[in-house]
Amino acid sequence: MTTNTFRLVQLTDLHLLADPQALYRGKATRSSFLEALKLACRLNPNLLLLTGDLAEDKQPATYQWLYQQLEASGLAWQWLPGNHDQPELMNELKPSDFYQQTATWQILGLNSHWPSHTQGQLDSRQLTKLKEALTNSKPLLIALHHPPVKVNSEWKDALALENAAAFWELLKDKPQAKLVVFGHVHQAFSCYKYHSLNLATPATSIQFTANTDSFSLSPRAKAALRLIHLKPTGYFSTRLIYFPNP
Ligand SMILES: [Fe+2]
Repeated sequence: MTTNTFRLVQLTDLHLLADPQALYRGKATRSSFLEALKLACRLNPNLLLLTGDLAEDKQPATYQWLYQQLEASGLAWQWLPGNHDQPELMNELKPSDFYQQTATWQILGLNSHWPSHTQGQLDSRQLTKLKEALTNSKPLLIALHHPPVKVNSEWKDALALENAAAFWELLKDKPQAKLVVFGHVHQAFSCYKYHSLNLATPATSIQFTANTDSFSLSPRAKAALRLIHLKPTGYFSTRLIYFPNP
């Protein structure tokens, strides 16, 4: 690996609660997040990226606890909101969208939170950010919470990105849009659309059963984080690293 490879670690769908003893669907989500964070630190990424559904209870104390853990990690990090989040509370601590450039790549984090909806939506401000990034020919990684593609689960596909057509209209002629990474579906998934590899990552909390038309949990499925290497040539590699969550 050359020294210019940029290492990104994605964590998603933490579903944390303010009460340290509380469980989310039977899972101690603080413990599973801390396990993921410990593993992420060992990977020493250039950026730790959290793609939404951070606070199940939308409480200020939950975001403050998470912020403290992330700051204490010593890693550079960014977060994006999911449908379960409260972007205004996140923004009080750190912006809930971002754009940054590495030596050879662009990384754009979009806010797809649609108030009062489980579905996601990119508002005109977010679409403008995407358009601006696409004026640059450097390879682009786009991160957001909601999938802009179907994942072969009828119930979950109905809760994805509402204006995915507008998203793809901007990307379809842009070969630099190489990667789209998201959460929301609590399972691994990948597919190509136009020039972009679309990737979903399992949750750090609980997993949903893949390829089903109605909701069910997959209690034996392991949690995972995603490691992405953005290479100076414009190529990339990625893998999931599974871990047992307590
Ligand atoms: Fe979630």
